[in-house]
Amino acid sequence: MKKLFLLLIVLGWNTVLAQDELISNPDGRRNVSLNGTWHYIIDTYETGFYDYRFRERKESDNGAYWNENLPKSKSDLIEHRYSDKSSIKVPGDWNHQDRQFLHYEGTVWYQRKFDRPKMNQDDDVYLYFAAVNYEAHVYLNGKKLGSHKGGFTPFNFKIPANLLKETDNFLVVKVDNKRHADEIPTLNTDWWNYGGITREVKLVIVPRTFISQYNLALSQKQDILGSIKKNTFSVSGFVKLSQASAGSKIRIEIPELKFKKEITADSDSTNIEFNLKNLKLWQPEKAKLYEVRFTLGSETISEKIGFRKVEVQGKKILVNGRQIFLRGISIHEEIPQEIRRAHDMADAKQLLGWAKELGCNMVRLAHYPHNENMTKLADEMGLMVWSEIPVYWTIDFKNPEVLQKAQKQLDEMIARDRNRAAVIIWSVGNETPVSENRTAFMSNLVKRAKTSDDTRLIAAALEVGYNKGKNHVDDPLGAFTDIVALNEYLGWYSGLPDACRTAEWEVAYDKPFFISETGAGALAGFHADKLTRFSEEYQEWFYEEQIKMFEERFPDSFSGLSPWILADFRSPKRNHPDYQELWNRKGLYGEKGQKKKAFYVLQAYYKKIKDREDAANRRKP
Ligand code: GCU
Repeated sequence: MKKLFLLLIVLGWNTVLAQDELISNPDGRRNVSLNGTWHYIIDTYETGFYDYRFRERKESDNGAYWNENLPKSKSDLIEHRYSDKSSIKVPGDWNHQDRQFLHYEGTVWYQRKFDRPKMNQDDDVYLYFAAVNYEAHVYLNGKKLGSHKGGFTPFNFKIPANLLKETDNFLVVKVDNKRHADEIPTLNTDWWNYGGITREVKLVIVPRTFISQYNLALSQKQDILGSIKKNTFSVSGFVKLSQASAGSKIRIEIPELKFKKEITADSDSTNIEFNLKNLKLWQPEKAKLYEVRFTLGSETISEKIGFRKVEVQGKKILVNGRQIFLRGISIHEEIPQEIRRAHDMADAKQLLGWAKELGCNMVRLAHYPHNENMTKLADEMGLMVWSEIPVYWTIDFKNPEVLQKAQKQLDEMIARDRNRAAVIIWSVGNETPVSENRTAFMSNLVKRAKTSDDTRLIAAALEVGYNKGKNHVDDPLGAFTDIVALNEYLGWYSGLPDACRTAEWEVAYDKPFFISETGAGALAGFHADKLTRFSEEYQEWFYEEQIKMFEERFPDSFSGLSPWILADFRSPKRNHPDYQELWNRKGLYGEKGQKKKAFYVLQAYYKKIKDREDAANRRKP
């Protein structure tokens, strides 16, 4: 230990400390919000991080923007300071907060102060970020706590006890949203690169030894119909402690079921398995959540958890043993009326409320893990969720470091949401071009997700091959995923909507077939004949022809769709001066929340499907 300590001294605090394991369910623990008004400095030239020779500044360097750098005398040379003149809201992307940020890609330094939270002698404090896009370096009182890459998953750092002052702790976060070829996502995306501390920040207070993570779910291996008949269900999961303290007693309770069980921790991660009686399963459109409590010593964490089983049987997707058709819609994490990243529960209610109004039982949260309010609300609403990491388009597939970055974002996505019954699909990417390197890269992620979590389906939006006039779904990655998901734009990017009338489809895999994207653009309020691009009538015709194709020409493995997209969204790639103006117009809702004519075509289709399913279920014994 001494050697390690010496090493740390030699290396100096500038050493990036290992990032601490994610603390699950911070809201279910003692916490203090650090949301609100912070100060900022825009640092296009990275002056706060490098000296004039572009060498990384030393920790005590007054020119470093992580130091408060107050003048000791009026003669002192001070060339940076955080000021009320430059204030910014956290959480929230910077792009929508001031015109100077609209297209900004680079570094912004965030700063605020906070006092030591109420805590016991044997407590520790963690600094928790729900997301920062894209790269964050975090400093407290001039010392580096750590750094994180990845714009859509949470991370936290333990605050060393000897670093925390009673008052005025000086917190600085360097945020850099520049895009890079060897990052996840890479340089080219069809969405706005919103930068900043885009989600919540909080102090989480925990006992020295605490439950850092836990999971409880219906055991995947059980015969669910048999369990329903016996009214006895096998559940399993794990409890992770922050420090190996074998022998610790952990209590698990589900008050509504009058269930209580004590387990003994055998290491820092203890597997759990037991039976539950009289369990009401979580069903799509009929959510049932139970308060589950985990207690270690004096600390109890509680969370609402649903229990369900999702599986594939041949060409069918089953939830709780019953075949289900996914009436989905794809969604970007954006509030179009205010041109900003969505982040709070009110935002989630708007977006998922729109999906519900459309008649959906599923949402595809594209193309990155959305904020936790979305998956928690989906749990409550009974909306199934496809959650995805931004391995999007032309990633640097031959680079092993890029694979590690993708693996880390996959692990972080699963760690955060593994207790969300609503999440039935983990997606490892979108429309990645077929090559040997790509299929090796993507199949590695599929296997990693399956190893980490056997209670969900693993997918990716695959590529479609066209030959001899047929649409061949034979992407080699389809051999690894549980379902064959595909984006197709027949009638928008190829041909006109009537091309759907002669399209033929062949799926090379005996698996459920899912259309993860299909869509056409329309400027809300622009009306013309149906052959006029960007008219609402063209988009309406597109959906009519697509639906006819689904109903009349699709394989019997067709198991659902999540058309592109719920609402118009911002994209730097969409530059038509009349119809787009930096908006991708494929939304069924316009930028002001107007419903376009195509909305009603899809809504009617989903109602017909639901009525058909309800009638079939009524006929079942
Ligand atoms: C692709 C991609 C989306 C994109 C859409 C479009 O399928 O997955 O991210 O926005 O097409 O071109 O509108």
